[in-house]
Amino acid sequence: MSKNPLPHFPATRLRRNRKSAWARALVSENTLHVSDLIWPLFVIDGNNKVEPISSMPGVSRSSIDVAVARVKEARDLGIPMVALFPNTDPTLRSEDGAEAVNPNNLICRAVRAIKAAVPDIGILCDVALDPYTSHGHDGLMRDGEILNDETIAVLVQQALVQADAGCDVIAPSDMMDGRIGAIRRGLDANGFTDVAIMAYSAKYASAYYGPFRDALDSAPKFGDKKTYQMDPANAREALTEIELDIAEGADIVMVKPALAYLDIIHQVKANCNVPVAAYNVSGEYSMIKAAAQLGWIDEQKIVMETLLSIKRAGADLILTYFAKDVALILQKK
Ligand code: PBG
Repeated sequence: MSKNPLPHFPATRLRRNRKSAWARALVSENTLHVSDLIWPLFVIDGNNKVEPISSMPGVSRSSIDVAVARVKEARDLGIPMVALFPNTDPTLRSEDGAEAVNPNNLICRAVRAIKAAVPDIGILCDVALDPYTSHGHDGLMRDGEILNDETIAVLVQQALVQADAGCDVIAPSDMMDGRIGAIRRGLDANGFTDVAIMAYSAKYASAYYGPFRDALDSAPKFGDKKTYQMDPANAREALTEIELDIAEGADIVMVKPALAYLDIIHQVKANCNVPVAAYNVSGEYSMIKAAAQLGWIDEQKIVMETLLSIKRAGADLILTYFAKDVALILQKK
């Protein structure tokens, strides 16, 4: 069990290292830093607009001008990167999600505005068709089936318009097979050799994404995402997904959701040498918010303990809607 067996009590007293704040600080094994955090933001069309999301208290969709102000706050707090998600106008959604490859779509305009106003913060953009398709699925669909290779061709174009707008990190969240390699080749062939890929590698078909789909109005109109996202029963398969994505060129790999999958984060960390990201997803956020609103838990303490658990499991970076709250808490410490 132990590398160096300890003498039994009373010779050994583990409480000696816990007896004061300074002692605990000295032996602390894991720390949450503001530099570990990525803050997801939802954008909508318009000006000076803020729309609360009822299933995500404290989170809202905002127009680009408001998003720019939020990104400035994030930068001033030391948050290294923001992740942008568009709530696309319903009239721009279509069966084939063509708006995804429009170089002037909402997300590209947001990226350009943020890059111009806040050049010293990283910008991450999802690559997947669900914010743009009328059916809400991440890929092209024919006869109720999500087409893999045809979808990849569109995802490459989507990555290219986002990279051209100034996106620093492309995050394919679609779970098509082979998309990381295709996107890497596409980026390189078009001069975007410095644009990184954070692959949603082990992305599970999870009910924890519910509030996010409210935020984007992107819940699938029929069916579910089980033919492309992973089965929550599987752990070994996650390692295979990770291995393939690294071989195809992923700079960072991600496990998503985080909390019901801490074992996966731990195994991924033990089995690969690229940075590991974890997505503390919308449902994980909303559960804490709901219990806190009822007065059943201490929100601040629960948030810090929860995010620390994700780091302890092995995550190097964490996407979380709590990023700004945590940055403020860490500043006061
Ligand atoms: C889109 C995407 C989803 C999330 C991130 N990118 C939802 C989904 O796949 O249905 C979920 C994020 C969250 O729940 O916070 N492909």
